[in-house]
Amino acid sequence: MRKSAKRPCLLVAAGPTRERIDPVRFISNYSTGTFGYEIAKAAKRRGYSVVLVSGPTYLKEPRGVKVIRVESARDMKRAVMRQLPRAKTVVIAAAVSDWRPRFEAKRKIKKGAGKKVLELVENDDILSEVGNRKRGRVVAGFALETENLERNALRKLLQKNADLIIANRLGDSSIFGDGRTSVVMIDKWGNRTSVRNRTKRELASNVLDRLEAF
Ligand code: CTP
Repeated sequence: MRKSAKRPCLLVAAGPTRERIDPVRFISNYSTGTFGYEIAKAAKRRGYSVVLVSGPTYLKEPRGVKVIRVESARDMKRAVMRQLPRAKTVVIAAAVSDWRPRFEAKRKIKKGAGKKVLELVENDDILSEVGNRKRGRVVAGFALETENLERNALRKLLQKNADLIIANRLGDSSIFGDGRTSVVMIDKWGNRTSVRNRTKRELASNVLDRLEAF
């Protein structure tokens, strides 16, 4: 890609979100953010202008990438929607928490005083929101499944109006962290590409190849 040409913008959301219970506790998940960061880095190497909306991770910020740090799913949605107008390609690789506590206690909840029940409410689905405002953009998401990998992934692709879904099965590879893993990519026409036993850096490049083919 020529440096002087206006560079297309790729927006990536990566990492987990944290949903606060009180000032010292939260609910979250095991996501490290590695895959999304590798996609951001690969896109940067290919000459895109890259915006990375990142939940809390220990990863180093990729050089030359605009990084917007967020904590909760609501923060992430706000940041993604704000950056959306400039993006031509969007990859929602974040492990967005599906729920948040209905109430966030302003003070530390003390132990004792009987049974504690945590009431949860559902967070908005960021990929669906992006899918609903697609307007010529190419939109990709992930599907993390413990069973019925391809059926569930295809359902998510259609329900969320994505162009491409990258499906991982939890259990047969180290999807969390930086080990090797396998994915199946399914596009909106039903084409299916299986990529086995690759590093996330390699897979990120495969994902960009697929996105660029649109
Ligand atoms: N996703 C999202 N917002 C959410 C939940 C998920 O944008 N509130 C996105 C993820 O980033 C991923 C895709 O939706 O790109 C699928 O996420 P996944 O966790 O596999 O599935 P869910 O839609 O949350 O459904 P379920 O938990 O029932 O499998």
